[in-house]
Amino acid sequence: MIGAGMAGRTHANAWRQVRTVFGTRGVPQVRLAAICDAYLPFATDAANSYGYERATSDWHEIVEADDIDIVSIVVANKLHREIALALMAAGKHVLCEKPLSDNLDDAAAMAAEAADASVVSGIGFGYRRHPAIAEIAELANSGALGEILHFDGRYWCDYGADPQVPIAWRYRGPMGSGALGDVGSHITDLAEFVAGPIASVSGGSFATVIAKRPPAVEGLAGGRGAAGDAEATETVENDDIAEFNMHFASGAIGSISVSRVAFGMPNALCFDVFGTQGHASFDLARSGEIKLDDTNSPAGLRGPKQVLTNPSFPYYKGGSSMDFAGVGNTQIEQFTYQARAFLDQVIGLDEGLPPVPSFAHGYRAMHIQDAVATSAGRGGASVEIK
Ligand SMILES: NC(=O)c1ccc[n+]([C@@H]2O[C@H](COP(=O)([O-])OP(=O)(O)OC[C@H]3O[C@@H](n4cnc5c(N)ncnc54)[C@H](O)[C@@H]3O)[C@@H](O)[C@H]2O)c1
Repeated sequence: MIGAGMAGRTHANAWRQVRTVFGTRGVPQVRLAAICDAYLPFATDAANSYGYERATSDWHEIVEADDIDIVSIVVANKLHREIALALMAAGKHVLCEKPLSDNLDDAAAMAAEAADASVVSGIGFGYRRHPAIAEIAELANSGALGEILHFDGRYWCDYGADPQVPIAWRYRGPMGSGALGDVGSHITDLAEFVAGPIASVSGGSFATVIAKRPPAVEGLAGGRGAAGDAEATETVENDDIAEFNMHFASGAIGSISVSRVAFGMPNALCFDVFGTQGHASFDLARSGEIKLDDTNSPAGLRGPKQVLTNPSFPYYKGGSSMDFAGVGNTQIEQFTYQARAFLDQVIGLDEGLPPVPSFAHGYRAMHIQDAVATSAGRGGASVEIK
């Protein structure tokens, strides 16, 4: 593990849980070797909490360690390239968090290196592993909803809503690397997961509504921490809110709205997909269900119905110690399912789990993000995704 901030602890937990899901046939014991964080108290605490053998504040020690085969990179996006390339060169398999980097050049270099490397690499678009989301994607992709016409997605967070939340890496970088890169990368990936490739984006629009924040506080990870009363002296460089429209290669259209300053919405990922024969929707706040409407209901009883996640949904059966309908899943388990899929790729075990999206996919996702920024810079003009 490299990074023991918010998402780092979730990866640490995922690797700890990875052998407890889907059965153990063919799956080796997983040794939890080391956790690195530049702020050593975070590394030590995470190592103790999740049962890792040692903690360090220097990621080079992870690169050089002979007893480590698989590494999660869960640090600020601008550090991904240097660390990923060093790990791959040292023969480690690398699961890197999204977005792939903080700039397109680095992302392209990472994708090129990964394509040539003999190790397994992948990017953490973990929402694909959520049973409810994966079920909706299957419904949409199988034609069960008819021809897909329209996708509307939101990812609204409030981690930056308080102007007294200190500056952090999340608030640095070009327009498009703020809310769009941080949470927009997830919902945009889900748009393609559910409705197929995006052919063009338009209507790109950004707003930075809190221009200055107090200085960073040591040991306060990721810009999601508690607010103090320090003077706001540091400039916020990127987007607090982003919006854009998209046309899919299929002919469907859609729109996406993301925010890190959405008052009262701590983690609201929601989407609706409409086809000619049905409609499905997901709301992370109601993670144990989807809403579904299709042509099967008798006239007069049509309308979105609650369907609880259940063992017929992807990842559900074997994915929990209580895998029956109604128990539900949270966002946390999708990290474990992602880790399991990655482990299967490393050991060459085929359990039918889709592979973790590649660095090439991560590069494409950043390309879409960049196209939204281009659209915003051109007053909302349409930009093709090649
Ligand atoms: N998949 C998801 O749902 C999800 C959720 C949150 C974050 N993320 C991604 O995870 C990554 C980390 O985000 P976060 O919210 O955990 O950030 P964070 O700021 O909470 O944690 C990052 C950690 O990295 C440490 N760090 C900084 N420089 C370091 C270095 N040189 N070596 C080792 N450690 C260093 C920091 O001390 C901090 O603890 C980002 O790429 C982010 O986009 C993904």
